[in-house]
Amino acid sequence: MRISIIGTGYVGLVSGACFSKLGLNVICVDNDVEKLNRLQHNIIDIYEPGLEELVRRGINSGKLSFSDDLPNAVNQSDIVFISVGTQGKQNGELDISQVLISSHEIAKAMVGYTLIVTKSTVPVGTGSEIEKIVKNIADKKLFDIVSNPEFLREGSAVYDFLNPERIVIGCKNEKVANLLAGLYKRINLGPVFQTSIETAELIKFASNSFLATKITFINEMSILCESVGADIRDLATALRFDKRIGDTYLSPGPGYGGSCLPKDTKALFETARNHDVQLPLINSVIQANDDRVIQLSQRVINSFENSKGIRIGVLGTTFKANTDDIRHSPSIYLILRLMRAGFKINTYDPKGNINTLKSLPEAQVCENAYEAGINCQAIIIMTEWEAFRDLDFDKLGKLMSKKLIFDFRNLLDEKKLLKLGFTYKGVGFKTPEGIKN
Ligand code: UGA
Repeated sequence: MRISIIGTGYVGLVSGACFSKLGLNVICVDNDVEKLNRLQHNIIDIYEPGLEELVRRGINSGKLSFSDDLPNAVNQSDIVFISVGTQGKQNGELDISQVLISSHEIAKAMVGYTLIVTKSTVPVGTGSEIEKIVKNIADKKLFDIVSNPEFLREGSAVYDFLNPERIVIGCKNEKVANLLAGLYKRINLGPVFQTSIETAELIKFASNSFLATKITFINEMSILCESVGADIRDLATALRFDKRIGDTYLSPGPGYGGSCLPKDTKALFETARNHDVQLPLINSVIQANDDRVIQLSQRVINSFENSKGIRIGVLGTTFKANTDDIRHSPSIYLILRLMRAGFKINTYDPKGNINTLKSLPEAQVCENAYEAGINCQAIIIMTEWEAFRDLDFDKLGKLMSKKLIFDFRNLLDEKKLLKLGFTYKGVGFKTPEGIKN
């Protein structure tokens, strides 16, 4: 069985590398020839744990190859995955032009029966649009359309692909579902769930929007905790014991970021609006999340009488740990607000420094956390990198001009920092003034 994957972004590359690990022959197709050259030499543009090793093994075993020749890849393949990007437009809708262009090209190139599978996150109705395109161009050829949304998270994408909690297959009949399910049969499978194409497309948005809602809920509770003297850490722990609520996505922080949750909540809202359906809950989640980073930035600004020229160190610029991705990162938004208010910013991120340099040339991007602390009147923890927990805070404190820490991920050991003479401000609880241990 040979498969092609169109698009070597996050989902496409991880899927291709993982399918090749499962013993399938995979051709990853992209029109960026330079990127393909780099991939052929196992140079991967993104940091994703385990991916480099899988790509190397795939290339060496001959199971994984890269090509810019879409027609050639498609006409050798039984199954073709569409994994091209679907960026959010200004109005919140998703731009599916790359998906539609790929569908045209696949239709022109396919010979014999082809299973066309959408892995890109696409609005509901895209599957039937693809079907129309392919029918128009390749009327006489046999094909089926499937929606097979991907639920992998950046930072644990390889693990998530190989250990799925469920495989969703949206298609018209069981025979088609079985054909695709056959690809996944070597994985430690969660349930394979067959639905209509429309339902599968919507499941992806519902899933990401539900996660966004949980995060927004816990952030809202954290604000209330601060005002009534409660502690979000205990509150969240108590919620986690309740299986009906579940034990994840209940960590308060600077709001959800990344290339998926912000985009998909907005796209879901727009899809509903285009069908004359109001989604007031999702609308509130979007607004509340946009406000979250503004509130936290204001908290920092309000801690200083005058911000002009004051230096602050921001630890973590990626939207979460274990990635180098800074797209829609709350940290970047916070830094921009602080710089606008007159602060000077040092930053450090274990994997995000190169991307930070490109997007924030005015910030001082540092080699390590200690350098980022030099002459700073405060440190802000914005990303939950494990390495930040283990810093030598005694050393860091001596490099700073004032020992103040805003821990917007509740990552650090409050008691230890108080003992070292820091003023510590987490989210969702108040450290009583004067407590030193
Ligand atoms: C998300 C989904 O989790 C994946 O299932 C989905 O496949 C992916 O989008 C996608 O659509 O491609 P990802 O964007 O990698 O994955 O990020 P998450 O791990 O879900 O985190 C999103 C944001 O929420 C991050 O900024 C993170 O810091 C924040 N978050 C997460 C919290 O603030 N609190 C939490 O408790 C959990």
